[in-house]
Amino acid sequence: MWVKIFTQPEQAFARLQEGKPQLLRIGNDSITLVRKGKHFFAVNDACTHNKESLSKGIVNFKDEIVCPWHNYCFDLRTGREVQERSADLRTYALRLNEEGLWIEVPD
Ligand code: FES
Repeated sequence: MWVKIFTQPEQAFARLQEGKPQLLRIGNDSITLVRKGKHFFAVNDACTHNKESLSKGIVNFKDEIVCPWHNYCFDLRTGREVQERSADLRTYALRLNEEGLWIEVPD
């Protein structure tokens, strides 16, 4: 199902700092939300290596999120760990329109 997380597009741009991961909890899902310029990304928050919260990580210039514990890097578009050292992260579809920013989560 689609869940609205910001009620206006301007709000999404204002509230999400460029390149600063933000933790989002919807139901049982913990999600890391990232804005890079005009693009938004959402991945599962728990690192697939040892479950560290990726919302505490950093985003590099290649649009990868870097885990703060052992520095594994995950492509924000695909969820793939760039050196294939651990499983891929789950990614979430996002939709930005005049009504706001939406995320697709399991029913
Ligand atoms: S817990 Fe994320 S790299 Fe080890």
